Amino acid sequence: MSKFSIVSFFIYFVVSAAPAAVGEDYDYRTIRSPRSLTAEESRVAEDQYQRYCSLCHGADRQGYVNDHAPSLRSKSLFRSGVPHEVLRPIQYGREGTAMGGYLDEVGGPLTLDETWNLTYWLFWQADTERVRITKELVSGDAGRGAELYTENCTDCHGANGEGVNAPALGNPSALSHNSDEFIRYAIREGRDGTPMEPWKDKLSSDDIDNLTAFLRIRASGWEQSRVALREGPTPDQ
Ligand code: HEC
Ligand code: HEC
Repeated sequence: MSKFSIVSFFIYFVVSAAPAAVGEDYDYRTIRSPRSLTAEESRVAEDQYQRYCSLCHGADRQGYVNDHAPSLRSKSLFRSGVPHEVLRPIQYGREGTAMGGYLDEVGGPLTLDETWNLTYWLFWQADTERVRITKELVSGDAGRGAELYTENCTDCHGANGEGVNAPALGNPSALSHNSDEFIRYAIREGRDGTPMEPWKDKLSSDDIDNLTAFLRIRASGWEQSRVALREGPTPDQ
């Protein structure tokens, strides 16, 4: 075989393997990192992290110290979730879980700027690069997604998405903050250093879309509740 044909054989092999359903790699484009913090902003953010967050998420951001709080250092989360999917839970919390809202607007101790700084501080600690997460909707067969969910996900996330030893996937505040692509990314890539494995090695891309569609439509009758905002100021205030 000539050198050329060996090369073309490899190209053929790679190209023909690419559309394979399981283990297919998406091309997630890397995007610019968010702004860096000043030394003072970093110091304050770290201090606030240790004061308000380490109790559950751990002094080293490892997670699982209390209330099965997730890891705040998995690269996968910070590749896909900065800013909004990390910022919103810090600001508004996850209704019905141990994760409260820390923004002053909902009665928390942090200003708006401090919640942004904390998000960026966590990003820089995670030492990774961001990928482009689109706001495009994921379409799939939610009925098939429900079956896949029951087969593969209930041990940790609960039959009704309530979260057993993992985040509550049916949580209305999580669903309203998390884009489809962020959810799909978590399922595809897993969360490194945690029990959440990358399902792209086990399920086809279509089935991952089906699961995303199922979670998105809250197909199992998961309930929605109202977020309580602090009273607005009156004119004399
Ligand atoms: C062995 C337990 C386990 C199984 C099985 C499992 N997960 Fe997870 N999952 C987790 C844990 C733990 C996390 C949180 C990881 C972290 O610390 O970031 C997670 C995170 C997630 C997240 C991100 C949630 C968020 O709020 O950011 C999604 C989405 C998810 N899982 C979907 C699924 C789906 C769909 C399945 C079934 C195909 C599944 N998981 C199976 C343990 C599991
Ligand atoms: C009382 C325990 C507790 C404290 C304190 C706490 N959290 Fe959480 N946090 C949780 C739990 C539990 C979850 C997962 C909730 C769910 O099921 O969706 C969570 C979720 C999160 C998420 C979403 C992660 C993901 O994978 O989607 C972020 C970001 C987060 N917390 C940041 C913080 C920060 C920053 C602080 C401090 C300002 C903090 N948390 C304080 C318990 C806590």
